[in-house]
Amino acid sequence: MTIQTICVCGAGTMGSGIAQVAATAGFTTLLYDVNADMLQKAKAGIEGSLQKLVSKEKITPDQQQQTIGRLRYITDINQCIAEVFIEAIVEKMEVKLSLFNQLAGINTPETIFASNTSSLSITRLAAQISHPERVVGLHFFNPAPLMKLVEVVKTEFNTTATITQMEALVNTMQKTPVVCKDSPGFIVNRVARPYYIEALRLAEEGLADFAQIDELMESTGFKMGPFALMDLIGNDINYAVSCSVYEQLQQPERLKPSYIQEEKVKKGELGRKSGKGYYNY
Ligand code: NAI
Repeated sequence: MTIQTICVCGAGTMGSGIAQVAATAGFTTLLYDVNADMLQKAKAGIEGSLQKLVSKEKITPDQQQQTIGRLRYITDINQCIAEVFIEAIVEKMEVKLSLFNQLAGINTPETIFASNTSSLSITRLAAQISHPERVVGLHFFNPAPLMKLVEVVKTEFNTTATITQMEALVNTMQKTPVVCKDSPGFIVNRVARPYYIEALRLAEEGLADFAQIDELMESTGFKMGPFALMDLIGNDINYAVSCSVYEQLQQPERLKPSYIQEEKVKKGELGRKSGKGYYNY
């Protein structure tokens, strides 16, 4: 199958970045969201980001215009016709399933369904979609236009040909694919869990505040302290990932999600995207 059109579903933090990457790589790119305001915001974000790249002479004005010309912003699911879908909507299995099943109804059986989920089981997702062999994980990192790594999550259903094609796709996007097995949190989010959870534990116990912890971790060489990073990721997403990994690993005490983060989510203090998280933006 030749890939010409990629449809990215969800125009939030990740979807907008992934759409920019796909369009820059030369694909006709559809960005679909149920929320028209999110699409407007994504369009402004992508165009602003391309403009910055022109100013820094990383791309030419021609490349900027071509990339903009490859992007379509849509709210009508019936226009979502593509060879590859990359889903970056809410971190909830039933919502992702419902989306993929609607898309399966209007696309051919060869269409690839990739999920950008950080923690949900790709195998469980695939098992509930017709032709499960075409469902994979393509896990980009935040911010997608800058971060090189993409975890290509493989299940028992996939053929080698599908995984090879996904690796080639990631390479075309100028990213580095790493194939990994489907397990809770895959590799990076599993390793990173204690970074967030132990930092939250220190704050819960009143041993240090958010800024102190961040400052110290950054001074040891981490690019971002855990609280600044959770604000970048989004507390709703980070908390959902913590809960999902905790449940899938049979609730180990060391990975118990923090009530501080749960409170942040309840108050809508989601981080950069809502203007307030552990810090104000
Ligand atoms: P977000 O909250 O910024 O954006 C989600 C978008 O999906 C919103 O624009 C919303 O309107 C849209 N949406 C919700 N339901 C929809 C539906 N049924 N159909 C179409 N659009 C729908 O979320 P974010 O942070 O971009 O995360 C998306 C996915 O990417 C999640 O699965 C998350 O685990 C994963 N991810 C997030 C990372 C991060 O740093 N935030 C990093 C890597 C993966």
